[in-house]
Amino acid sequence: MKGSPQEFFDRESLRYRQFVKQRDFVPFLREKINPLLKGRVLDVGSGCIFDFDSERLDLYVAMDLSFGMLLGLEQDGKVKAVCGDANHLPFREGFFDAVIYRAVLHHLNPEGKALREMKETVKRVFLEVDRILSRDGQILVIEPCFPAWLERIESALTPLIRWSMKRLGLPYVFLFSKKAFSDLLRKGGWRFLEIEPVQGGGRKWEWIVPVLGLPFIKIPRWASPSVVHLFRGRR
Ligand SMILES: C[S@@+](CC[C@H](N)C(=O)[O-])C[C@H]1O[C@@H](n2cnc3c(N)ncnc32)[C@H](O)[C@@H]1O
Repeated sequence: MKGSPQEFFDRESLRYRQFVKQRDFVPFLREKINPLLKGRVLDVGSGCIFDFDSERLDLYVAMDLSFGMLLGLEQDGKVKAVCGDANHLPFREGFFDAVIYRAVLHHLNPEGKALREMKETVKRVFLEVDRILSRDGQILVIEPCFPAWLERIESALTPLIRWSMKRLGLPYVFLFSKKAFSDLLRKGGWRFLEIEPVQGGGRKWEWIVPVLGLPFIKIPRWASPSVVHLFRGRR
């Protein structure tokens, strides 16, 4: 369907592949996340990249709604690509040791329903992941977060943003604040939370997409409206 995340990311997969190579926070993230990964790992909304250390893993499943994004990911023998929806994880109980959500949760309300409903969806996703994780499994969420004041403005402008995105044939996205995410994770049953900002590699530049579908632009990091955060949750 035109304007769905699936259609958008199928269409944009090549451009996205170029964009991810520019993200200078990836080495920092790798350093932080690699030591936490072991056993079987699921990356929900994996997109077209696999940049974690596969040596220490038994299995890495990359799952995405967009088939276009997954093409080419299985080159590494330990990566299995699965086309699927974050809302219904097609895996059995207790199978994974860690589940990663990187830059996907802000896409879970593509039609721009009321914020209340989006929060319910994200909370359900956090409950669903609990089902497929092993006893001491952990959830790793990496998301750009707005400051609370900007989240409030964004929330007030929801109808306008939804209308504009519809007219442009693009999926609606909503960026939460750090506090909103922590609350959602806690309500989803994740009691032990560690949260930290994810820093770039010293170049002090940030690539952002001003509106989905427009070219990526480079701005000074201090001028970026959002800061990427890593949330690590355990039961
Ligand atoms: C911004 S990209 C992030 C990709 C990758 N995680 C990264 O960090 O580069 C968002 C990804 O989420 C996927 N996506 C959006 N909605 C999804 C859903 N409901 N279930 C699974 N994947 C979804 C999109 O197809 C896209 O590949």
